[in-house]
Amino acid sequence: MPAEDEMVLLAADEASWPISSPPPAWFAALVAIGLYIVVRSAATFLLWLHRAFLRPGRDLAGWYGTWAVVTGATDGIGRAVALELARAGLHLVLVGRSPDKLARVAKEVLAAAPPSCKVRTVEFDLAVTGDDDARRGVARVVAAVEGRDVGVLVNNAGATYPCAAYFHEVERPVWEAVLRVNVEAATRITRALLPMMAAKGRGAVVNVGSGSSVVVPAFPLYAVYAASKAYVDQFSRSLSVEYKQYGVDVQCQIPLYVATKMSPVKGASPFIPSPEEYARAALRCIGYEARCVPYWRHSVQWFLASLMPDAVLNHWRLQTGIRKRNEMKALLGEKACG
Ligand SMILES: NC(=O)c1ccc[n+]([C@@H]2O[C@H](COP(=O)([O-])OP(=O)(O)OC[C@H]3O[C@@H](n4cnc5c(N)ncnc54)[C@H](OP(=O)(O)O)[C@@H]3O)[C@@H](O)[C@H]2O)c1
Repeated sequence: MPAEDEMVLLAADEASWPISSPPPAWFAALVAIGLYIVVRSAATFLLWLHRAFLRPGRDLAGWYGTWAVVTGATDGIGRAVALELARAGLHLVLVGRSPDKLARVAKEVLAAAPPSCKVRTVEFDLAVTGDDDARRGVARVVAAVEGRDVGVLVNNAGATYPCAAYFHEVERPVWEAVLRVNVEAATRITRALLPMMAAKGRGAVVNVGSGSSVVVPAFPLYAVYAASKAYVDQFSRSLSVEYKQYGVDVQCQIPLYVATKMSPVKGASPFIPSPEEYARAALRCIGYEARCVPYWRHSVQWFLASLMPDAVLNHWRLQTGIRKRNEMKALLGEKACG
């Protein structure tokens, strides 16, 4: 019979699994799942680092064609993207509703770009109400690129409410303009130019979406705007699958706040880039994923938002909207948000 000390040692040996016997199936499954999660998270992080900091932008003129069309090129992100495209060696068609602003931005582009850069402007109010006017506007855009090697289309123009508002408060001309500019005009212009790109077997269509329809579960007090951007997102991703085989890369770029006149937050800050900073990131993304968040700090914000419960984000968005709306009304009067 073994001594008491030896019995304790024997019992310890028996309990010292996994050395002496194979682990139970549940344990092996847990380890496998844990390993999978660790490897997947590490790979996602490394891919993000590569996309955000290391991956070079494409030579857009060489890859897609020498002309680019930018809508809403007279201000904010569109103006900054136009300047970057010109610096990258593309000729430009600037689309905007104000002839004065178009002339000013055309001058700025010519001053910033290489001497060979050519710039054309097309006056087109993308919120026009009649079908005939819309067709004529699109025809002017088509005429501006007819016979030219059109490589890049940036559907950037965007409209939103003057301030946060409940849907029943928003006047019809306001929400109709949001749908016309963000949805209808982008669809019409894409419909006109994409076949030209498909015919030559190369091109890039960049549609500017918004974090309001992707990053947060809801965007209260900007319902029509957020819904119009959800259209842009799904439209782009579906076209991306349809036209890959024709050599056309369609992409939805997702900005969060950028310091422009559209943004309710004024002034650049660590998470709110200037339009110029944002535009540099936007150009580096063109042609890659069907949906991308070009500015790396925005993608950090998206990640943080994904960790929060929907109910918390919804409450925070609604309260922020109400606060901003009250501030605006106090400043400009009751009608400010209609
Ligand atoms: N800034 C942000 O925080 C933010 C966030 C997410 C998404 N976005 C999206 O980014 C895009 C660019 O916005 P942004 O911030 O640069 O705003 P922005 O500074 O207000 O510029 C908007 C551009 O669209 C043009 N536009 C508006 N309505 C038009 C119309 N009816 N016809 C022709 N052009 C029209 C404007 O022309 P005018 O110069 O004549 O006004 C301007 O050139 C939009 O699609 C917006 O939804 C912006």
